[in-house]
Amino acid sequence: AVATVNKYGRITAVGEGKCTVTVVSADNSAVSAQFSVTVNAPVKIEPTYIDGILIVNKSYPLPSDYNPGTNPEAKQALDEMFAAAAGDGLTMRVVSGFRSYTTQKNLYNKYVRRDGAAKADTYSARPGFSEHQTGLAFDINKANDSFVGTPEALWLAANAYKYGFILRYPEGKESITGYQFEPWHYRYVGKERALKIYESGLTVEEYYGITSCYK
Ligand code: DAL
Ligand code: ZN
Repeated sequence: AVATVNKYGRITAVGEGKCTVTVVSADNSAVSAQFSVTVNAPVKIEPTYIDGILIVNKSYPLPSDYNPGTNPEAKQALDEMFAAAAGDGLTMRVVSGFRSYTTQKNLYNKYVRRDGAAKADTYSARPGFSEHQTGLAFDINKANDSFVGTPEALWLAANAYKYGFILRYPEGKESITGYQFEPWHYRYVGKERALKIYESGLTVEEYYGITSCYK
């Protein structure tokens, strides 16, 4: 009821509870060892809301079946922002928006194969830990360092809050957000909150007094 053991000694959890596994030498039945196995109930991951907004970072994951698609309110605000940017002569488009758990898993695994897990963790969220899974985050124009310092990046940094968006991973806050500077990644939080967070000069983590680190 708790666990099974196959002929190689591999233990597989079956159900919640405790049991003891005994290993007996095939050559000498006087030689044996025992160990206890505890099978815990699966941890049910629930989305975390603070101040009425969904929080996702390395400390606050989403369940794998959380699959809302692009948030319509965020998309409308984004279109409004892009129209304003166009009015200032700048062209903007989304290069990555909503990403499902599976899409993130494939992306992250690809980066781990390329750069190793430690490096990948500095720029890519593990599956279940990406803000892109909320449908509220968008990468704009170019999701790489060639976007740094462009007129579009500077315009977004100065104006995105007016449309309800915040720069999620600012420069110099890598140890707080858990990620490298990403001038292209904007998160919709609504106009009121965006204004307050922008004016505070703080990251989401600092503003709400939360961590971003994997357990
Ligand atoms: N690049 C951001 C951190 C993500 O993977 O969600
Ligand atoms: Zn992003």
